[in-house]
Amino acid sequence: HGFPRPPLSTDFFLFPHVFCLYQRRDISSWLDRWFPKAPAKSVVALKTPIKVNLVAGKTYRWCVCGRSKKQPFCDGSHFFQRTGLSPLKFKAQETRTVALCTCKATQRPPYCDGTHRSEQVQKAEVGSPL
Ligand code: FES
Ligand code: FES
Repeated sequence: HGFPRPPLSTDFFLFPHVFCLYQRRDISSWLDRWFPKAPAKSVVALKTPIKVNLVAGKTYRWCVCGRSKKQPFCDGSHFFQRTGLSPLKFKAQETRTVALCTCKATQRPPYCDGTHRSEQVQKAEVGSPL
């Protein structure tokens, strides 16, 4: 019949530090996965700007990462694809129609500044970084 079995493996009592280390590694790889240290590159969503009617006083979130399916605005893909990037929040000062950048290479975000006409953007593949 023998002795009753200990509730945990005897290894745990002999080498508890090994288990703690194992657990810590587990948590840090989980953190790396969800919070990457270096942000991903923006990708070219489209190669022409999108005209939108902005309403004075309203706040918009322009997609920085290029992965949104609701260009030129953010749909949360930057988070779900763990890019480490965030959208650009801006408030419209007046009601007007503007051309917002979708190639993500503009020097004047969120507005199109014509950079999409450059050879670099035109040669790039949609969905890839420059
Ligand atoms: Fe691109 Fe949010 S989906 S910034
Ligand atoms: Fe990006 Fe025009 S669409 S600069």
